[in-house]
Amino acid sequence: MKKLSLYVFIFTVFLYVPIINSATNTENGASLYLDHGCYSCHGYNGSGRHPIANNMSGIMSSEALFITFLRLRADLNPLKPSNSMPNYSEAVINDEQAQDLYAYINTLTDNPPQIDDIPTLKNILDNAIRKNENE
Ligand code: HEC
Repeated sequence: MKKLSLYVFIFTVFLYVPIINSATNTENGASLYLDHGCYSCHGYNGSGRHPIANNMSGIMSSEALFITFLRLRADLNPLKPSNSMPNYSEAVINDEQAQDLYAYINTLTDNPPQIDDIPTLKNILDNAIRKNENE
């Protein structure tokens, strides 16, 4: 019986360790995202000029692809040729940090409010529609 509870204990620890780890990975990813200026082009919540929130990026479909993308010079990136994304060598962002960044970016969501939820904007639009109908 004692042995069984020991097994249960070990099993429980193994069950929770990855969960604890993933939380800190995401936090570390968040600071890397700020430290390396990703937010300047991708926005604080991934909805900037080059949106990466809401899992809409093909490059984010796998961790390996994401890390390869970071390492390549952007102008050699085969999927979306451009020279505007800086490259991040292993010396700048190592693989472990890149994994944390990957975990963090996967948490980013972009949920702008609906027009109906912004009374002033809805009012302006309704008035414009009414004015249009009266002309
Ligand atoms: C100077 C602007 C700039 C900065 C800084 C920047 N990016 Fe980008 N990023 C881009 C552009 C532009 C693209 C679109 C692909 C291209 O043109 O090469 C892109 C594409 C991406 C994509 C793929 C999006 C897709 O369309 O599938 C990911 C993921 C990404 N960036 C992550 C990052 C991360 C992580 C950082 C910080 C370590 C970062 N970027 C910093 C400009 C930037």
